[in-house]
Amino acid sequence: MAKVEVDLNNIPLGKTVTIKWRGKPVFVKHRTQEEIDEANSVTIKSLPDPQVDADRTQTPEWLVVVGICTHLGCVPISDSGDFGGWYCPCHGSHYDVSGRIRKGPAPLNLEVPEYTIDGSTMVIG
Ligand code: FES
Repeated sequence: MAKVEVDLNNIPLGKTVTIKWRGKPVFVKHRTQEEIDEANSVTIKSLPDPQVDADRTQTPEWLVVVGICTHLGCVPISDSGDFGGWYCPCHGSHYDVSGRIRKGPAPLNLEVPEYTIDGSTMVIG
């Protein structure tokens, strides 16, 4: 299936769900205001893969990332790690609440797939 539809009403504030898309895990995170503020408080220049949060989201409360570590392809664990986003247990990469790599061997941020949001429906792909 090329596209997958997600009903955003089913994802409470502060929760992250895992969706399957083209055989890959995709994480959809309903971010709190605190998490959004945290994502925006980072000094961009200090990041291994510098990207501002606004370039990774269409609307700040929803973050969508492909759940494949950019190091060697393990599936990171949601809502864990030193930066409140994801932790990859394979070799210890930590991603933040914007899915950006912050610590560990992964070279790049978690990939943001193509998606659209229309009301409470998200379409990934
Ligand atoms: Fe994730 Fe190596 S595959 S840290």
